[in-house]
Amino acid sequence: MRIAISTGGGDAPGLNAVIRAAVLSALDRGWDVLGIKRGYAGLLGEDEVIALNREVVSGIGHLGGTILRTTNRGNPFHFPERQPDGSIIEIDRSDELIDRANELGIDAILTIGGDGSLAIAQKLFEKGVKIVAVPKTIDNDVSCTITTFGFDTAVSTAIDAIDKLHTTAESHDRVIVLEVMGRDAGFIALYSGLAGTADVILIPEIPYNIERVCDKIRSRDRAGRHFSIVVAAEGAFPLGGKESTLGDSLPGEARRVGGIADALAREIQKRTGKECRSLVLGHLQRGGMPTGYDRLLATRFGGAAVRAIAEERWGEMVALQSPHIVCVPISEVLKVPKRVELEHDVMLTARATGISFGD
Ligand code: F6P
Repeated sequence: MRIAISTGGGDAPGLNAVIRAAVLSALDRGWDVLGIKRGYAGLLGEDEVIALNREVVSGIGHLGGTILRTTNRGNPFHFPERQPDGSIIEIDRSDELIDRANELGIDAILTIGGDGSLAIAQKLFEKGVKIVAVPKTIDNDVSCTITTFGFDTAVSTAIDAIDKLHTTAESHDRVIVLEVMGRDAGFIALYSGLAGTADVILIPEIPYNIERVCDKIRSRDRAGRHFSIVVAAEGAFPLGGKESTLGDSLPGEARRVGGIADALAREIQKRTGKECRSLVLGHLQRGGMPTGYDRLLATRFGGAAVRAIAEERWGEMVALQSPHIVCVPISEVLKVPKRVELEHDVMLTARATGISFGD
């Protein structure tokens, strides 16, 4: 049996722990393991395919990033290709990918990725590829799994930032707006904002009214709390308005979202007269060592994925449905994207403890 591992989309702390656990579990069964570099680029002649053995995965379990590298511009069904005139067109290179995998004697692919990679996995599965997936995203927006590795690390990083911003905000009587990741889902903002005791949390699931945000800041002022912390998911947007985007997306790349913190800080300062500052936490949330929780979850996912391959659960994704790791069809996972449930206990507690969602 020869399997090949691929990591796609944005990196997340814990990827290396998945790779390590999958490689060791596969070797334990006497299988051969290959690593496809940079998403599927290694199978498309744009990068290499390497052997993954004990030495290669030794000492990587605690490291952030991915030893296989990754890309968010490598969809084999829409692969960007530059034309002689400089323009870029997208071409379907999935047949080439499958041919190359057959040439290399690859019996099954283990893909580790978020929504985008899962959609690719489903299409490859429909073309007959024997594929099993491991969910990955710091945003926690993959359905059918309670959580994904990387999320806990990102939330911890955001809480650390909120704690540090609190002291400056309080010392200077300022409003500080922190922008965290979450293009479509507000989990990082909600969890870090609640644990870090933010005053306002803005998430894409609840379009905000800027006046409600300012009301909260003014009422804190009247109560003698002259500072406020606002945590905004990058994809949060005002009622009747649009998310802030940065533009400059490269061919094949998803839209780049960002800029909400600066826009909010300007608007809040204008409306309340309070001194405002903003900070974009950005890719710090994706970097560094995975927390113990993420390392363990990633390791469990890696081991479970190899068991899923042994059981020939093609087209399925391993998922945490506590206390167990289960397998679910990728088609099910893709049906409904995971978003913050507005009646979830975390939301109810946040509201009950006085946090404003700007609604
Ligand atoms: O998908 C995870 C994510 O962290 C999003 O929240 C964010 O918008 C995106 O990655 C940014 O990724 P990159 O800068 O690598 O394109």
